[in-house]
Amino acid sequence: MAETDKKEQVVTPWDVSAEDQIDYNKLINDFGSQRIDAALLEKFAGAIDVPLHQFLTRGIFFSHRDMNQFLTNYIATKAGEAKNAFYLYTGRGPSSGSLHMGHLVPMRFTKWLQDALDIPLVIQLTDDEKFLWRDIEFDTVRQLAIDNAKDIIACGFNPERTFIFRDSDYYQDMYETILSCQRATTMGTSKAAFGFTEESNIGKASFPPVQAAPSFPTAFPHIFGKDLSKKAKGAITCLIPCAIDQDPYFRLSRDYASKLGCNKPALLHSVFLPSLAGAGTKMSASATDGSIFVTDSMDTIKAKIEKVVPVAETVAEAGDDVSLEWLKFFLEDDAEFNKLCEDRLAGAVSGVAIRDRLVAVLQDMAAEFQARRAAVTDEDVEKFFSKRSLY
Ligand code: TRP
Repeated sequence: MAETDKKEQVVTPWDVSAEDQIDYNKLINDFGSQRIDAALLEKFAGAIDVPLHQFLTRGIFFSHRDMNQFLTNYIATKAGEAKNAFYLYTGRGPSSGSLHMGHLVPMRFTKWLQDALDIPLVIQLTDDEKFLWRDIEFDTVRQLAIDNAKDIIACGFNPERTFIFRDSDYYQDMYETILSCQRATTMGTSKAAFGFTEESNIGKASFPPVQAAPSFPTAFPHIFGKDLSKKAKGAITCLIPCAIDQDPYFRLSRDYASKLGCNKPALLHSVFLPSLAGAGTKMSASATDGSIFVTDSMDTIKAKIEKVVPVAETVAEAGDDVSLEWLKFFLEDDAEFNKLCEDRLAGAVSGVAIRDRLVAVLQDMAAEFQARRAAVTDEDVEKFFSKRSLY
C-alpha cells in the first residue's frame, strides 16, 4: 500500500486508532506539547528524594506541558525560597466494573508522584461523562464509579492526602468554576476540539468544562479555601498525569486559566498500553481478549496471553515483541528488563520464554492487586470521598 493510502491516525478522548503503530512524535507535533527529554528527567530526579519511576526512564510518560516551570517552582518551594502549593489531578470514566492493566498505568504513576512529590491529589470519577456517551443507566454508572473507586484505592493512595469524587455528587461544589469555564467556551471551540456534530447530544458539548474545572483550585473550596484571593490562586499549581488522548480537555483548561485568574495546569502524558494482540490501538474495556483485567484469575491471565500474544521467532527491535513491550511497562527490575531486551535481539532467549516471563509478572501483579482490593471497605470509600483538607 502506498504511503498516502495509510489510514490517518486518530487520537481523541474516545477514539484511538492507527494503521499499525501510533506515531507519538506526530502527536507531540499535532498537539503542540513538549517531549520529556534527558535534561528534564535530570531536573526531575534532582527535585525528589527517590529514584525516577520506570515509566519516566523508559519513555512511557513521554510528553509534557510546563513541567520545567513546575519543577522550578517545586524546587524553590521545597528549599523555602518560595511559597507555592501544588496538587495532582487525575481521573477515570467509569465505563466498566473493573479496571484493566492499561488503566493502572496512570494510576500507579500518580501514586508514585503523590509519594515522591508529597502533595495532595484529587481524582475525578466522570459518571456523568459515561452517562452522556454510553447507553448506561444513571444508577448503573454511579455504581460503576464506586466499584472503580475501590480499584483505585487499591493502588495504594494515601488516604490523608487523596480526595476522590464522583461528578454526580460533587458537581455543586465546583459549579461556579464549571460555569466560568462554560462561559469561556464557544460552540465553535467545543466542536473543533472534540469533533461534536449537529447530531451530538448537547450534554456532550457542555461536558469538557466539567473535566477541565478540577485543574483549578477554586473547584475545591474544602481543600484550598473559599473565595481565594488573586494572590492565593496564583500560588497554587495543578499537575495532571494522564494518557495523551485526554490532552484536548486540558488544552481548554490552559486556555481558561487567565480568565479565571488561575495558573495553567502542568501535564505529563503517557503512551497507551498496546493491546496484547499487538495492534496499534489502546486496550479497550470492550475488546476483552486483548485486555487483562485486574480481576482476571491467574489461569485466565495465562490463557489469554497464550491465546493472543503473537510470538515471532526473531524480532528486529524490542518494540516488535508484544511481550517485551508489556514487560517495559510492568517489569520493575531494570537490570533484568535490559538483559531480556538484549538477549531477545541477539536471539539468545526465545519469544516463548519472554512470553512466559510476562505471564509470571502479570500474575504476580494481579495477585498482589487482588489482595489489596479485597481489603478495601465501604468505610475506606467514605473516607476518600469525604470533603476535608488535604494539608
Ligand atoms: N475522561 C477520562 C476517562 O474517560 C476520565 C478523566 C476525568 C480523567 N478527569 C481526568 C483522566 C483527568 C485523566 C486526568 O477515562
